[in-house]
Amino acid sequence: MPILTIESTCDETAAAVIAKNGLVLGDAIATQETLHEQFRGVVPEVAARAHVERILPVIDTAIRRASVTPKDLEAIAVADRPGLAGSLLVGVVAAKTLAVAWNKPLVAINHLHAHLYACQLSSESTVYPCIGLVVSGGHTSLYLCHSPLELEYLGGTIDDAAGEAFDKVAAMLQLDFPGGPAVSKLAASGNRKAYSFPRSLMHDPKDDFSFSGLKTAVRYAIVGPGQQDFSKVQLSSQAKADLCASFEAAVVDVLVSKAERAVKRHQVQRLIVGGGVAANQFLRERLNISANRNEYQLVIAPPEWCTDNAVMGALALEKISKGDFASLDLDITPGLQRGF
Ligand code: KG4
Ligand code: ZN
Repeated sequence: MPILTIESTCDETAAAVIAKNGLVLGDAIATQETLHEQFRGVVPEVAARAHVERILPVIDTAIRRASVTPKDLEAIAVADRPGLAGSLLVGVVAAKTLAVAWNKPLVAINHLHAHLYACQLSSESTVYPCIGLVVSGGHTSLYLCHSPLELEYLGGTIDDAAGEAFDKVAAMLQLDFPGGPAVSKLAASGNRKAYSFPRSLMHDPKDDFSFSGLKTAVRYAIVGPGQQDFSKVQLSSQAKADLCASFEAAVVDVLVSKAERAVKRHQVQRLIVGGGVAANQFLRERLNISANRNEYQLVIAPPEWCTDNAVMGALALEKISKGDFASLDLDITPGLQRGF
């Protein structure tokens, strides 16, 4: 019997109905981009309210598209960690309510592990064991993945996440929200060597990341040290493109080099990459080059499964096969301790 998966960790309200073999029978996603664009960032209160309005219609749509009825469902899965507290709450409360109303078991999913599982979903053979790199708006972490459910945290960002840096740079340049795609689009016509931005921790033997120094360096390049007011800055479109290209090159250099080193150090044959930043074209190209040169297999989900979605909640099928269900007192866990 298929399962229903629910995702509401940040600013996308999503649901999917997934068959036992991983086939997506129906899914739906309501994006909040237009609600947050005037703030050039996700406003937690606005996000939570929008989830409340959208969650039931989105679940309804996914079930209708799958041509199933609630009684056909085996379980209800929901991302309970990590994310914005208000956003997580809406998904968890909806899942628990439906679990009671429809008398279905509940499964809790770690959103970051689900991002990695999107790679397994898009691969015909097993991707495990592998190194898993999560690059999202809130996280940048490396895992040694023994199996879908046995993940060993290797390291992560000590300050900003890669996606957050994209969003902040986009805001400084007054580009559209979300920042990642906007920066990436401009970067395509820019000079990647125009600015030599820092590659923090790139040669550090640990698996940690740091992007706040890079963000500050971009700010200095735009307005100068100590200045915060971006509204008076007049930059030509070529100057903006050069800033974006040089910034993107710095982020991608760090991500590729640290992921590549983890693959070598742990002597695995594969690298999987998930999270919104994994939709980035330049990162995908550079990872491909690294995989060919170093002879490891690279699996990245298609871009629509990199950004937040409910399909990656198919990870719940793995948990169900191990009898790993959540109880009805399931609570949210907005922050994570070492990736879990
Ligand atoms: O995984 P995700 O959808 O949400 C979180 O779990 O955070 O990731 C969102 C992040 C945002 O920071 C967004 O700007 C970034 O992913 N992103 C991108 C691209 N598409 C989305 N960053 C760079 N290039 C892209 N094409
Ligand atoms: Zn995400």
